[in-house]
Amino acid sequence: MKVLVLPTAERAAARTAGLVADTVATTDQPVLGLATGSTMEQVYADLVTLHRTDSLSFATTTTFNLDEYVGLSPDHPQSYRQTMEALLFSHVDLHPQACHLPRGNAPNPYAEAERYEAAIAAKGGIDLQLLGIGHNGHIGFNEPTSSLGARTRIKTLTRSTREANARFFDDPKDVPRYAITMGIATILDARHAVLLATGSSKAEAVARMIEGPLGADCPATALQMHPRTTVVVDREAAAKLC
Ligand code: F6R
Repeated sequence: MKVLVLPTAERAAARTAGLVADTVATTDQPVLGLATGSTMEQVYADLVTLHRTDSLSFATTTTFNLDEYVGLSPDHPQSYRQTMEALLFSHVDLHPQACHLPRGNAPNPYAEAERYEAAIAAKGGIDLQLLGIGHNGHIGFNEPTSSLGARTRIKTLTRSTREANARFFDDPKDVPRYAITMGIATILDARHAVLLATGSSKAEAVARMIEGPLGADCPATALQMHPRTTVVVDREAAAKLC
């Protein structure tokens, strides 16, 4: 695991965007794994700027997001599809057909999870998987106690994750209870995993991920087993590292 400590959240996001941009620029038919969450917003803003100013092209890139809420249609304002449209997809030259998220309103979410896992494999797997981390150590929506061998499937969101995500909904009761998420094993298949964490509220989870014992009570610790993981943190998120 390579750990990059940057002085500020802005510099950490810019470094992360740079890693994504390098992969896009140097890979034939790149496949990106994308994440949502507040931490990623600056990364996507930086990628849009690189597209506009440095002509970074996503024309041959395929993307697969980590997760989507079960029950929300792709045009629901709080769906991750709409979040990605607003932050990235509509601002760069990604082909609309090349931007994949699980379909939250699929009639059979279990079959949808299997279809999604197969679609990633059919594209030859993910070159770079972007990740954030939850306060409880989740990655994607792989909450504590998730099997470290799991693939894309339905997960029940914990109360703490629903509370953390309530800020995006008008009424906390509207936060969905389930999500379709790539599993830890799906994430570990990516050729490069890049996790960005910023701010003091993530310091505990970052220390557990990097230095704690490997275990399902902190799913992000699974990245210790990945042959190529880069963790990008600002000073605040690094504060509890030994
Ligand atoms: C969502 C996802 C989550 C977030 C995590 C951190 O696609 O992958 O694991 O990365 O919940 O979210 P923020 O950045 O909002 O703290």
